[in-house]
Amino acid sequence: MNRKKILSGIQPTGHLHLGRYFGAVENWVKLQSEYDSIYCVVDYHAITMPYNPIKLKENVWELIYNLLACGIHAENLFIQSKVPEHTELAWILGCMCSYGELSRMTQFKDKSEQIKDKSKDSFVSSGIFTYPVLQAADILIYKADFVPVGKDQDQHLELTRNIAQKFNSVVGKEYFKAPEGMYSSTSKIMSTADPTKKMSASMGDKHNINVFAPIDQIRKQIRSAVTDAGERSDRLSPGVENLFMILKACNSIEEYNLLLNEYKNGTLQYGRFKDIIADAVIERVTPIQNNKAEILKNSKEVKESIKRSSAIIRERASQTISEVKALTGLG
Ligand code: AMP
Ligand code: TRP
Repeated sequence: MNRKKILSGIQPTGHLHLGRYFGAVENWVKLQSEYDSIYCVVDYHAITMPYNPIKLKENVWELIYNLLACGIHAENLFIQSKVPEHTELAWILGCMCSYGELSRMTQFKDKSEQIKDKSKDSFVSSGIFTYPVLQAADILIYKADFVPVGKDQDQHLELTRNIAQKFNSVVGKEYFKAPEGMYSSTSKIMSTADPTKKMSASMGDKHNINVFAPIDQIRKQIRSAVTDAGERSDRLSPGVENLFMILKACNSIEEYNLLLNEYKNGTLQYGRFKDIIADAVIERVTPIQNNKAEILKNSKEVKESIKRSSAIIRERASQTISEVKALTGLG
C-alpha cells in the first residue's frame, strides 16, 4: 500500500528550542512510522535574510545533528541546496504567482520591517519576497499530501494550494494536488522571559530554551520564568499558562492535573511548580543530548549518510521537474 506523503522544512538559524521541538520536531519524529516522510533543512530559505556564509554551513550541520538526535531518521532528512531542482521549480511557479499575492504575506511584511529596523546597510532582498514560492516548490516537488508545521505557516500553505491550482489550470491537467497542513497538539510555546512573545530563536538567548543547553542552564531559565504578580484568577496569566503547556508537552499529564487543581484552590507554590517543570523538561532532553554526543563521535559518517539521502531524494525531485517541464513547454 502506498503511504501518504509528508514534507516539512526547518531553517538552519538559531537553536533547536523547546518551541520548535514541541511545536514541530517531536511530531515529525512520530509521523515517520506512519507516513512516507521527508524533512528538509532549508538553507536556500536561510539566505533570504542577512547572513554569514561560514556560520550558515556550520548551522546546517548542527541542525542535522540535532534533528537526528531528536529521532529523525537519516534516510528521511536532506539539505535543500543539495536538491537544486527546488529552485528550478520555484522559478516556474513564481511565474504563476502574482505580485499582489506575495505582497499580502504577513511574514514578508514582518521580516522586511525587522530588516529596516536593523541597520542602514541591510536591505529587503527579493528572496524574502519570493520565499513562499520556494516553500511551495519544496512541498509540491514531492507531491506531499500533508505538511506538518505550526499555525504560523497557514498563509504559506494557502498560497501553496493556490499555486498548485493555478499550475493545473495553466497546463490543463490536475497535476499537483493541494497539500494540507497538519498541526501538532502543542500550539505555541511562549518565551519564559516574556510570555507575551513566541519562544523564538531570533529574539535572543534568554527568550528560548535550547534543547541542547547544559542542564543547569535549562533549570535556571525555568526557575526564572515570569509567572504572575500573585493575584490569581480563573484566567491563568500568560506565564503560568505557558509553564502548564510545557508540562503537558512533556507528557506529565497526571502532574499537570494535580498542579492545575492546586492552582485553582490557591495552594500552588511557584518555586516547587517550576522545579517540577524543570525536572520534566530535563528528563525529556537528557536522552536527546546523549544521542547527540554519540552522533558527534561519528560526524563524518553522518555527513556521508545525509549526502546519500539527499542524492536519493533528489531523484524524486528530478522526476517531477521532467514532468513539469514537459507540461509547461520547457525543454
Ligand atoms: P522556525 O523556528 O520558524 O524555523 O519554525 C520551525 C517549526 O517550528 C515551524 O513548524 C514552526 O511553526 C514551529 N515553531 C517554531 N517556534 C515555535 C513555538 N514557539 N511554539 C510552537 N511551534 C513553534
Ligand atoms: N517557512 C518555514 C518556517 O519558517 C520553513 C519551510 C521552508 C517549510 N520550506 C518548507 C515548512 C516546506 C514546511 C514545508 O518554518
